[in-house]
Amino acid sequence: MRIAMIGTGYVGLVSGACFADFGHQVTCVDKDAGKIAALHRGEIPIFEPGLDALVVSNVKAKRLDFTTDLAAPVAEADAVFIAVGTPSRRGDGHADLTYVYSAAREIAAVLRGFTVVVTKSTVPVGTGDEVERLIREANPSADVVIASNPEFLREGAAIRDFKFPDRIVVGTSDERGRKVLGDVYRPLSLNQAPLMFTARRTAELIKYAANAFLATKITFINEIADLAEKVGADVQEVARGIGLDNRIGSKFLHAGPGFGGSCFPKDTRAGKTVAVLGLTFKPDTDDMREAPSIPLVTGLLDMGAKVRAHDPVGMEQARKELPDIEYCDDPYTCVKGADAMVVVTEWVQYRTLDLERVKREMAQPVVVDLRNIYRPEEMVALGFTYESIGRAAEPLV
Ligand SMILES: NC(=O)c1ccc[n+]([C@@H]2O[C@H](COP(=O)([O-])OP(=O)(O)OC[C@H]3O[C@@H](n4cnc5c(N)ncnc54)[C@H](O)[C@@H]3O)[C@@H](O)[C@H]2O)c1
Repeated sequence: MRIAMIGTGYVGLVSGACFADFGHQVTCVDKDAGKIAALHRGEIPIFEPGLDALVVSNVKAKRLDFTTDLAAPVAEADAVFIAVGTPSRRGDGHADLTYVYSAAREIAAVLRGFTVVVTKSTVPVGTGDEVERLIREANPSADVVIASNPEFLREGAAIRDFKFPDRIVVGTSDERGRKVLGDVYRPLSLNQAPLMFTARRTAELIKYAANAFLATKITFINEIADLAEKVGADVQEVARGIGLDNRIGSKFLHAGPGFGGSCFPKDTRAGKTVAVLGLTFKPDTDDMREAPSIPLVTGLLDMGAKVRAHDPVGMEQARKELPDIEYCDDPYTCVKGADAMVVVTEWVQYRTLDLERVKREMAQPVVVDLRNIYRPEEMVALGFTYESIGRAAEPLV
């Protein structure tokens, strides 16, 4: 098989080198000329155990090559894999598909003969439909099948994961597409890797469902860790105690500082916007030292929220402590489009806000009043979901 790998990052380089090692003829393409020049010199741009030897041996055997120009390798390929980045889009946290779509357009222009174009990048459900639309629009006579083949490798164990996967998911209902991808992965049948054929959208959802589930496991055991501290239990023994149940499994049950890396945070990001009113530690000062707004805002950012803030005089000082949030000149701009408003400092201006206007400006009327400056019954009557400290939202009976 001849394979063109578009995007030579963690996924593209590992997959390309492993496919070459299976005996396929692979060209890895990247727009980053520095990366390709380094690879030509035999330098591996990322640290991944075993990757340097795998690349060197397959280059030497003339099964693996690198270029910045996709025209020739795509024209010759039986399968073209798209393995470009899909980072979080600034502002709303959605997957940024610009790189995928521009790769699709570039591929469309140079396709020759029957070709299977395969999305390996992690993409939201329906992206394959749009890739197909773009390619058919740009090149209506192309003999092409668009498939999804999500990648499950882990950085640090990428080569082993690629060569001994728990499963390979191929999303296309087209028989010719299934045949080509079956041939691409045939060498793995020796390793007993189940090859699972699904519809394209199902394959796309499998990848997100897998990442969401793994992230949930990590977050779940961290919640249990908090509980363990409170009740005097040992979370590691709890994890072992539940992990030995094979319906649950022991992996991804290690309590710690939470997940990171390039995949889980972006694939699970909620992107909610929270408006914070008041940043200084009390009203009528610009003093930000030990202000409760600092851990609160940092916690919200850690959870993937977008934070917008207003403070009548403290914003200059706050910028030093909280550089990654948006500062607004007035409270109404601050709450515009927000999913929740949190009152942190009880400035007098916030007591006299036009709450009907606040409600109109917000995307969702949720108010968390950490200073008890509003009356619960009034907030409920205005239609807010209202939380304050130590007071019931509804009158007590
Ligand atoms: N890193 C992982 O562990 C992992 C695991 C599974 C899935 N994924 C997914 O795989 C995809 C790629 O991730 P990555 O970590 O390899 O990204 P990466 O940023 O390391 O690599 C992407 C590469 O694509 C290149 N590129 C972008 N547009 C291009 C174009 N039009 N033509 C040629 N090259 C182009 C970039 O220069 C870059 O080198 C993402 O969707 C990611 O979510 C990553």
